[in-house]
Amino acid sequence: MRYVRLGWSGTKVSQLCVGTWHLPPSRELDEHGVLKVDVDEAVKAMRRAYDLGVNFIDTANRYHGIMQPVDLDHVGNSERVVGRFLATVDRESVVLATKVRGQMAPWPNGEGLSRKHVMWQVRESLRRLGTDHIDLYQLHWPDPETPKIETLRALQDLVRMGLVHYTGISNHPAHDVVEFLELADRIGADRFVTMQEKYNVLEREIEVDGRLDVARRYGLAILVYSPLAQGVLTGKYYDFKEGRWVVPELSRASLVPDLQRRYFNERTAAALRAMKEVADSKGITLAQLALAWVIKRSEQLGVTLIPITSFSRASQVDEAVEAINVSLKDDDVKAIDEALASRA
Ligand SMILES: NC(=O)c1ccc[n+]([C@@H]2O[C@H](COP(=O)([O-])OP(=O)(O)OC[C@H]3O[C@@H](n4cnc5c(N)ncnc54)[C@H](OP(=O)(O)O)[C@@H]3O)[C@@H](O)[C@H]2O)c1
Repeated sequence: MRYVRLGWSGTKVSQLCVGTWHLPPSRELDEHGVLKVDVDEAVKAMRRAYDLGVNFIDTANRYHGIMQPVDLDHVGNSERVVGRFLATVDRESVVLATKVRGQMAPWPNGEGLSRKHVMWQVRESLRRLGTDHIDLYQLHWPDPETPKIETLRALQDLVRMGLVHYTGISNHPAHDVVEFLELADRIGADRFVTMQEKYNVLEREIEVDGRLDVARRYGLAILVYSPLAQGVLTGKYYDFKEGRWVVPELSRASLVPDLQRRYFNERTAAALRAMKEVADSKGITLAQLALAWVIKRSEQLGVTLIPITSFSRASQVDEAVEAINVSLKDDDVKAIDEALASRA
């Protein structure tokens, strides 16, 4: 395993992070008729990653593990599953990240980034995770109704109390991130150490909307979510021989139909065909290529990019971890870009 610094901090994290937005599905429904997480398989996958040297795990207070979007009966489930995993290892050997912002209760302060909500949710996350501290506490998405300085002061208090070690931000426009960082300097609070943003071969907004520049300028690492475009870039939804889309049973696209609307198109097919050529020439899988692409882009862009990927079964873990040792050439990246440009 390769370890990189968590942004400007001295803390080391594996070059790959385990995500928990989606967890392995069971075949059982709960009392609300919602598919349950296969907790044993989820813990097994996390343990397998840990045993292979992955020390970084990302969750959020809202995540259920399967249901999307999550209702209030099901929020908090992923954190509880992560807690089950944490109980099997030395807590200090893991860098644990979670998030706050989304709705957790029906009352007016049941969501947001106010001091009241953040202070409540940190206690709840710690309880669900079964730990006494969070290594990286992230703002999940913007709350335009709370002054940034209020959120920053609440976060800084959590750092002083030892409940949180570092803070991060996700899904905010570049100008908001800069405003937070400059405010932090003004009040003597710690700067965010990470941004968490969507980035993959198909979805490259952060390259052009200033977020990458902000990360580079302020020394933040970017935790890259959906590096496989939610599984699409593994090629499992595309029949290369027939040139048509397929949906395997219990795959994410079968559980989240919106995924088909977003990704099943000719531009994706062109990218997949180009990726398959590169992957075949290197004797690697498409999933490995998609993850290695993020790591290669990190080198090309001069910003630490750490892919976060989820697993629906423990057997997917080894494939992802092996991707860290794949080294791509500039020409490999170019071949994929050219295929995409021809479909722009
Ligand atoms: N900050 C945010 O707003 C935000 C948003 C989204 C995600 N995230 C974080 O980022 C993490 C990763 O996002 P993501 O789940 O979208 O990542 P992803 O890496 O793009 O997709 C992961 C999915 O791909 C499939 N997969 C993985 N390995 C595979 C393999 N070898 N072969 C075939 N299929 C494979 C699995 O789905 P199947 O069920 O189809 O097998 C898996 O759940 C999340 O867990 C979460 O922690 C954050």
